[in-house]
Amino acid sequence: MKKRILVTGGAGFLGSHLCERLLNDGNDVICVDNFFTGRKENIAHLLSNPYFEMLRHDVTFSLYVEVDQIYNLACPASPVHYQFDPVQTTKTSVHGAINMLGLAKRTKARIFQASTSEVYGDPEIHPQPESYWGKVNPIGIRSCYDEGKRCAETLFFDYHRQHNVDIRIARIFNTYGPRMHPSDGRVVSNFIVQALQGQNITIYGDGSQTRSFCYVDDLIDGIVRLMNLEEGSTGPINLGNGSEFTMRELAEKVIRLTRSKSQLIFQPLPQDDPRQRRPDLGLAKEKLSWQPSIALDEGLKMTINYFEALCGSPSGLDGLLNFHRQSA
Ligand SMILES: NC(=O)c1ccc[n+]([C@@H]2O[C@H](COP(=O)([O-])OP(=O)(O)OC[C@H]3O[C@@H](n4cnc5c(N)ncnc54)[C@H](O)[C@@H]3O)[C@@H](O)[C@H]2O)c1
Repeated sequence: MKKRILVTGGAGFLGSHLCERLLNDGNDVICVDNFFTGRKENIAHLLSNPYFEMLRHDVTFSLYVEVDQIYNLACPASPVHYQFDPVQTTKTSVHGAINMLGLAKRTKARIFQASTSEVYGDPEIHPQPESYWGKVNPIGIRSCYDEGKRCAETLFFDYHRQHNVDIRIARIFNTYGPRMHPSDGRVVSNFIVQALQGQNITIYGDGSQTRSFCYVDDLIDGIVRLMNLEEGSTGPINLGNGSEFTMRELAEKVIRLTRSKSQLIFQPLPQDDPRQRRPDLGLAKEKLSWQPSIALDEGLKMTINYFEALCGSPSGLDGLLNFHRQSA
């Protein structure tokens, strides 16, 4: 049955893929975004669809629409962007959650929260199960994001217990793919942009720290499955990819796939950068019958194709990088 679905942060990287998927599934989609990190280009191809609607709106303010489901993704996700205005980042997570939960309560809509592996901080347990409470610095430069997301989870569970709101929480681990912003400083986009421009590839630390990388289509499938589970399936559930790679391995793959002549250069690790992070996906497999299916090489090729096409687009990769340097 066609549902009316609100996607906050719908013009961003993950949000735009989610809007596309929900439209393809036959739903009516309202996309809300303040375009802080989102781009009109991400959703331009959806604007001619009569079941797609775009609202420029900041989730820190109340929103009155009638919907059946809400996916709350609004929040800058990369450290460069969430540290640009940390107070606004916390407001987006906390006030945004309160506003969207209020809307869910009034409309009796089911509501999904895009939480993050950052709630585990610099973990002492590896891989991280959902039962782990995390090791997070409350006063560091990443805290606006980490603690904002943790507080949002608290609000979701309190609205659930106190007001019976039907909630879903996914803790999303590193995800990559087409429509990542080229200047958002995330490792996959950074490496690809540097390789395509023939610049040296910057590795922070000695390159032995590991991360797992999930391709965007796999992640969106996991999110939609969680949203459509039977009532009472609150989560939190980890979503990501269990295969772990060192930063050096990732850089070498990108150089090979782009046939770049870039060299690796090394810089000091930023403050509070986790050494290692990988999801325990047991619960996702059991509850959602889900596991990622796209291998890193395959996903990187699709992402590289996107960035190559961006180099030849009217705004161009350079234009986008410059635009972002000015606005950030
Ligand atoms: N991509 C990942 O690897 C990852 C990992 C963990 C969690 N997440 C979460 O998933 C969500 C989407 O992440 P993304 O990677 O697509 O990032 P993104 O920055 O591309 O998307 C975030 C979107 O939210 C919008 N936004 C920011 N503040 C807003 C506000 N106050 N009001 C309205 N819109 C606002 C931005 O303009 C952007 O379109 C975020 O909540 C992020 O924390 C992403």
